[in-house]
Amino acid sequence: MTDATWSVGRVAKRCGVKVSTLHFYEQKGLIKSWRNDGNQRRYKPEVLRRISVIKAAQKVGISLEEVKQAFLSLPDSRTPTVEDWQLLSGNWQKMLDARIAYLQKLRDYLTGCIGCGCLSMSKCPLYNPDDVLGAEGTGPVILEQAE
Ligand code: FES
Repeated sequence: MTDATWSVGRVAKRCGVKVSTLHFYEQKGLIKSWRNDGNQRRYKPEVLRRISVIKAAQKVGISLEEVKQAFLSLPDSRTPTVEDWQLLSGNWQKMLDARIAYLQKLRDYLTGCIGCGCLSMSKCPLYNPDDVLGAEGTGPVILEQAE
């Protein structure tokens, strides 16, 4: 085997993922392989970088669909270069900052509920019997109105 092509087992071992995970990533359009003359999957070494980006993104809560969209945004859907990664990670950082702010707000609301027990339909972000607030929007309406 040359360094120009990697077997699925070698990629899986190097990346610390299961072979089935690589098949899944491929099925989702996140990585690509081709078949050699023996009908075995082969990967370019750059697949390691793609998988590293996928794993890093997943660790911080970025969905595979978001990763896929990020990859598709690159010219010719190329494997992220150093500059690409700086851009992608910067965008994901902004997204994570927004999620963290939302979660902090949720935590603060829950802190208000602990020991409260009012279950007020007008102010409790969790109490919504019979989905009365459904007419005002989707999702956690009170929480999202407070954004
Ligand atoms: S129980 Fe009172 S605000 Fe949620």
